[in-house]
Amino acid sequence: MRFKDKIVMVTGGAAGIGRVTAEAFAREGAKLAICDVNPETGEAAAKFLGAEASFEKVDVANETAVSEWTDQVVKRYGRIDVLVNNAGITRDALLLRMKAADWDLVMNINLKGRSYARGRWCGIWPSSARDGSSMWPRWSAWSQCRAGQLCRLEGRPHRPD
Ligand SMILES: NC(=O)c1ccc[n+]([C@@H]2O[C@H](COP(=O)([O-])OP(=O)(O)OC[C@H]3O[C@@H](n4cnc5c(N)ncnc54)[C@H](O)[C@@H]3O)[C@@H](O)[C@H]2O)c1
Repeated sequence: MRFKDKIVMVTGGAAGIGRVTAEAFAREGAKLAICDVNPETGEAAAKFLGAEASFEKVDVANETAVSEWTDQVVKRYGRIDVLVNNAGITRDALLLRMKAADWDLVMNINLKGRSYARGRWCGIWPSSARDGSSMWPRWSAWSQCRAGQLCRLEGRPHRPD
């Protein structure tokens, strides 16, 4: 029981990788607090995870909701030991064809959403990778943009027909 009585939060814990991760922690004795946008699968997952597990419907792209959920978890369990920042989505499209609304959705959930949970949880910005961000914790948003810019984009120059 490597995680006996540890308090583990899992975002997007209702299905997929989030759920199996939550189950793995539960098998090791952890108490699980999971969130998800899907209440049906979320409630079912929490039930499966044991009497001390909890589920909250939270959209990780909503900073207020993330903050309130974190407060609830601390109030209920007394502390947080582990955050599994898992919730995420994908929208497949070439950059050329990516719709702005889809771009914003992915950024809001996968980038900003993860940052809200992490920032609220640990209170500091873990900024370290020289190749993908800066060494300045206060430049959190800028560093994330820089990391995105450094992502290698491959392709030919676009010539309109
Ligand atoms: N499956 C893969 O091969 C793969 C590969 C690389 C990375 N990932 C990443 O791993 C994570 C989990 O992937 P998965 O395949 O288990 O996905 P999944 O779609 O099976 O499960 C994701 C869960 O997150 C929830 N979710 C979606 N948006 C949310 C939001 N805004 N707030 C809270 N919960 C939300 C969904 O309802 C779902 O329960 C994702 O971040 C994904 O990008 C997956």
